[in-house]
Amino acid sequence: MKRIVVVAAVLAFSAGAVVAQQDQIKQTQSQMKDNGKNAGALAAMVKGEKPYDQATVDAALAQFEDTAKKLPTLFPESTKGLKLDGDYSASPKIWEDKAGFEQHIASFAKVVGDSKGKIRDLETLKAELPVIGKQCGGCHETYRVKKG
Ligand code: HEC
Repeated sequence: MKRIVVVAAVLAFSAGAVVAQQDQIKQTQSQMKDNGKNAGALAAMVKGEKPYDQATVDAALAQFEDTAKKLPTLFPESTKGLKLDGDYSASPKIWEDKAGFEQHIASFAKVVGDSKGKIRDLETLKAELPVIGKQCGGCHETYRVKKG
């Protein structure tokens, strides 16, 4: 009898862990979606669709910085191979080439930090946005998988 209780508890625990991992992936995806929204807002200014706005720039950079800080913990080993609905998933390379992934995070963090002091007007935004974008794209190219 005791044994059955233990087994049930273990099963309940592992079901809970899967839910936690799915929550982690959802949280990661929503963090990345916010990156996408912010990058889009900056791109709209560069394209002249929106007037330059320092507050929007500062908010975007703060959010990128927050992402850079969180990135090392956004992809725990336990989420490897788990797939949710959505257009993208994390590539197994994140765990297979951990050093390379961490290098990408570090260079993203550095670029965002450098840009923070530099973007003061439309001209500097035009110069810096592609530098930041290259970091986003560089990581996605290797570590993000587009679902078919
Ligand atoms: C160090 C790696 C890394 C960096 C840097 C990075 N991303 Fe991502 N991004 C990922 C990974 C991995 C995924 C896939 C996550 C998943 O689906 O579980 C992703 C997913 C996304 C998505 C899709 C989210 C969704 O589910 O719809 C967007 C949009 C995105 N990133 C935007 C950005 C932008 C904009 C930047 C730069 C400001 C950026 N990312 C920087 C690794 C990175």
